[in-house]
Amino acid sequence: MLTNGSQTERIEAGTGKMPRHVAIIMDGNGRWAKKRMLPRAMGHKRGVETVRKIVRAAGELGLETLTLYAFSSENWKRPEDEINDLMGLMREFIKSDLDEFAANDVRLKIIGNYKALAPDIVEMLEESIARTSQNTRTTLAVALNYGAQDELVRAARSAAAQGEITVESIEANLDTAGLPPLDLLIRTSGEQRLSNFMLWQAAYAEFWFTDTLWPDFSKDELAQALTEFSTRERRYGGR
Ligand code: IPE
Ligand code: IPE
Ligand code: MG
Repeated sequence: MLTNGSQTERIEAGTGKMPRHVAIIMDGNGRWAKKRMLPRAMGHKRGVETVRKIVRAAGELGLETLTLYAFSSENWKRPEDEINDLMGLMREFIKSDLDEFAANDVRLKIIGNYKALAPDIVEMLEESIARTSQNTRTTLAVALNYGAQDELVRAARSAAAQGEITVESIEANLDTAGLPPLDLLIRTSGEQRLSNFMLWQAAYAEFWFTDTLWPDFSKDELAQALTEFSTRERRYGGR
């Protein structure tokens, strides 16, 4: 079981100004493997282990919502064998970690057009979402077959079908509806771009970049990002 996050951890994470919602673009699995002359699949495998660690860490650090970019709507451009590896890891992850989510009060949410994934994955995801729906400690939102432009088009269509298009009506139809506003966006591996991730939600998010490749990302580094977040002054266009 997770503890409620020790006092020290809370202070490390910057007392008072903890982000409610952190999203991570988990990048660099391929380069991690390449550096070690390993197949890319090994990088993805290690990447999943980091996901496990960071989901635990999020609970321990007292984060309310963690969103992880796992597969983009553009990642279908990759070779078929890599896509198969990634989908295989996804199946394994859901199977092996669902019990832990249930035990640690983690609620699973999926953003992105996940219904277009293989039927067995869709079924597993929907079961997991249902099984964890009453959990309240941490929400883990996994972005699967996610592209922000696609999300916005779907949201705008639904909003239009319901009536007027406004900021509120679009927001209410985004995949992230119901989640707290995005406070902090982290990207690993040294790339400094959004790659079609949470374009709308990032409007007033703070950004934090690290050269660390995703398989090497750690709880300490997450805590460091939270500490730095606590020193940022957010103005939202005001004075
Ligand atoms: C991130 O690692 C994982 C996914 C995009 C699925 P990459 O596979 O993009 O790793 P690099 O960027 O090639 O190092
Ligand atoms: C973004 O990483 C997508 C995920 C982390 C799932 P990519 O590696 O696909 O992004 P680009 O191609 O470098 O922009
Ligand atoms: Mg990449």
